[in-house]
Amino acid sequence: MPKATNVPIDAPPRRRVLIAGAGIGLTVTACTRAAGPPQRGAPGPGHGSGRPAAVRQAGVTTPRQATALLLAYDLDPDVRGAAGARALRQVLADWTDALAETREPDGFAEARLTATVGVGPRLPARLGVTAPAALRELPAFPGDRLDPARCGGDVLVQLCADDSDAAEETAESLTRLAGETLRPRWRQAGFLPPSPDGGGTPRDLLGFRNGSADPSPQECERWVWSGDATYLVVRRVHLRLEDFARLAVHRQEEIIGRRRSTGGPLPGGPEHADVDVFAKSPSGRYLTPARSHVGVVSHRHDGGARMLRRSYSYADGPTDQGLLFLAFLRDPALFTRVQRRMASRDELSGFTETRGSALAYVLPGARPGRPLGAELLA
Ligand code: HEM
Repeated sequence: MPKATNVPIDAPPRRRVLIAGAGIGLTVTACTRAAGPPQRGAPGPGHGSGRPAAVRQAGVTTPRQATALLLAYDLDPDVRGAAGARALRQVLADWTDALAETREPDGFAEARLTATVGVGPRLPARLGVTAPAALRELPAFPGDRLDPARCGGDVLVQLCADDSDAAEETAESLTRLAGETLRPRWRQAGFLPPSPDGGGTPRDLLGFRNGSADPSPQECERWVWSGDATYLVVRRVHLRLEDFARLAVHRQEEIIGRRRSTGGPLPGGPEHADVDVFAKSPSGRYLTPARSHVGVVSHRHDGGARMLRRSYSYADGPTDQGLLFLAFLRDPALFTRVQRRMASRDELSGFTETRGSALAYVLPGARPGRPLGAELLA
């Protein structure tokens, strides 16, 4: 398993101070700062009038930064029960402080670093704490070729930044602060490929815009957040890029169900137009092929239920490249439904092989005096 890189020797002095401070568990900003930039929005469902305003972790509705680094840790096998909960509470409190430091103007604010921390399905039972209602292992899906060394984890961290050094250095300090309590299990780096036509929705390695149909802020309140928490699904999907690239563009578009150039619907219209997957031509043919990716995964088959995809591409050498699929949603059962449909009839599945998979409950954000994990591990 690759390890986090060392602090580069040309790193600005401030960064070295940060990492060194984190290494000895320095709590410079203890208890005074929320784990921001907290995303304050309309309170999500379940907020009574007596509760403080929503404090959510960054990196969910934040516009994608250029790079991502996913880290999975396992709880020390000897750590369990109340003592384990105490040990993890300490790690998460130290992480809360270290992450607050990264948001200082002389930390990694310029790189727009966000850290998003969640826990995996096996953790609550190990620690004897109440599990969030929907935190259960994802089922097995037909066609998956999972490598256990790239799956699961008791604690998951998504680090995103415009500068991959910022994420790498933060990863190193988090791992050091985790001490013996959390052991690195797997890591995966991701990036947004440069777009030939400049800005706009980033493209994936198949060359299509990926993220065009993401939900609006109002839809996120309804479908992504559960109070201040959410769930993250990670899928490391190997893509058969050469096979796909050999196809004519119109065939590629039939398989994806959107236009390659604009990202818009096949019958025409702007990129962000909602695709009506039930629309037919006068001769009765679906205008978006029923076995195309969008034809299969569309929210219209799920009564409008949405997930917020925030995917990156990955390239681990010339023969293993693909999509680091990341989706946030309030109920992982939606992912399971959509993935089962994909496995049964999505033409895109002929070009994919899922090799890694994980689910995490993304903790509510920290508040002054309430570090990450305070509610779960109380
Ligand atoms: C295998 C690699 C995948 C690739 C290359 C891929 C690519 C795409 C592309 C190009 C779009 C259309 C543009 C957009 O709205 O973003 C799209 C839409 C979408 N994808 Fe995927 N995707 C992949 C896997 C998945 C998986 C595993 C899921 C969930 C099980 C998923 C769920 C969705 C959803 C929900 C939409 C929006 C559909 C709509 O409501 O219009 N995708 N994907």
